[in-house]
Amino acid sequence: MSDTNVTVTVGEETKDYAVLSGTVGPQVIDIRKLYANTGMFTYDPGFTSTASCDSGLTYIDGDEGVLLHRGYPIGQLAEQSSFMEVSYLLLNGELPSKAQLDDFTYTITRHTMVNEQLTAFYRGFRRDAHPMAIMCGVVGALSSFYHDSTDINDPDQRRIASHRLIAKMPTIAAMAFKYSVGQPFLYPRNDLSYTANFLRMTFGVPAEEYVPDPVIVDAMDKIFILHADHEQNASTSTVRLAGSSGANPFACIAAGIACLWGPAHGGANEAALNMLREIGTVDRIPEYIARAKNKDDPFRLMGFGHRVYKNYDPRATVMQKTAEDVLKTMGVTDPVFDVARELERIALSDPYFIEKKLFPNVDFYSGVILSAIGFPTEMFTVLFALARTVGWVAQWNEMISDPAQKIGRPRQLYTGPSQRDYVPLTQR
Ligand code: ACO
Repeated sequence: MSDTNVTVTVGEETKDYAVLSGTVGPQVIDIRKLYANTGMFTYDPGFTSTASCDSGLTYIDGDEGVLLHRGYPIGQLAEQSSFMEVSYLLLNGELPSKAQLDDFTYTITRHTMVNEQLTAFYRGFRRDAHPMAIMCGVVGALSSFYHDSTDINDPDQRRIASHRLIAKMPTIAAMAFKYSVGQPFLYPRNDLSYTANFLRMTFGVPAEEYVPDPVIVDAMDKIFILHADHEQNASTSTVRLAGSSGANPFACIAAGIACLWGPAHGGANEAALNMLREIGTVDRIPEYIARAKNKDDPFRLMGFGHRVYKNYDPRATVMQKTAEDVLKTMGVTDPVFDVARELERIALSDPYFIEKKLFPNVDFYSGVILSAIGFPTEMFTVLFALARTVGWVAQWNEMISDPAQKIGRPRQLYTGPSQRDYVPLTQR
């Protein structure tokens, strides 16, 4: 992989470090021997210049606004594929044949039920608990079930754990919603697709038949595809770091959910819709743009900006179109959508946003769609967690099966007191 070197000189000593090339994207300097050679670490808070692993799943070119899963552009996958197919692709590396897809879908469908004992966990939560708090707890609790799939060194057990997680997440997410609105849990139905089944478990009631609207099923499936994986983002890195110690896979995914909950990450779609609602009308947009630009105001335009994309987030393009389709199908005229489009137009022509390369991200429009479908804002991040589960397990599998894998252990620049002697309480 190495075709060139960089040289680092510290004092009198000069050492070469290999430069590694991936299939596409920037090269990386292999600094694994840097500490042994120099006694120095690199300093990179937030990992803005650090590759923590090599990975064959997802490629992002943030400057060009490109996102590829196993080489396939996200736009093509969202328009032509299905969430089940993308899940297979992420887990296995290639698009499935018809027989492989049928088999995979059958397997996932047959794992959608949760152990009945798991339902008892929900009752321990307050009815007004945030569903992400419930998700952290209940998915973590999965680690106390399914003892036949926790030997992480056995590829078959890893596969079963992965399938269980992907299959059970819609059931667990729908139950979190049902608990918050005081309605009975619905069991999954195997004659429905992954996404239609989730919508039924969420919005159906035992008293009547739920007929999923194909346009809504399609929009939801697209949203799942758009959130399926995104390289080494904060929650995925959390799952990898937790998994690097050999921890239980279900517990690792619970750690990923905890990280995703934050407003700078998965919580941004909830924050973006709340912001759009707060703005309320198009005439108030300049006030909010001014606040976003004011250095003394901590306010940020939620759903704008991204650590990696310094161009239009390709997922936002699909999301904007899907929002239009859903609103049209449902006959909804949501003033929030008008505010979103106008805010985008004004921000994209403002020098502050142009210079800082701040564009709408995936979360900017997703809230508008999810709200039109009927999800309360607290559920938005839960849907993100549901979809991202496949990315998390695929990345976790990739890490465990990598022979070079080590426990993740970053170093630090220590800024606390140097060694000093303990002072007894009576002398302080
Ligand atoms: N509104 C206004 N200004 C912004 C915004 C924003 N949304 N985002 C970044 N900036 C400004 C910052 O103030 C900073 O300005 P400065 O250089 O003058 O200090 C500059 O742009 C760079 O910002 P950083 O925070 O250093 O950029 P970083 O890459 O660390 O942050 C992040 C990325 C966290 C996503 C940021 O853009 C943000 O907070 N956006 C809003 C939250 C959001 O939408 N998150 C969703 C991310 S996508 C996802 O998780 C699926």
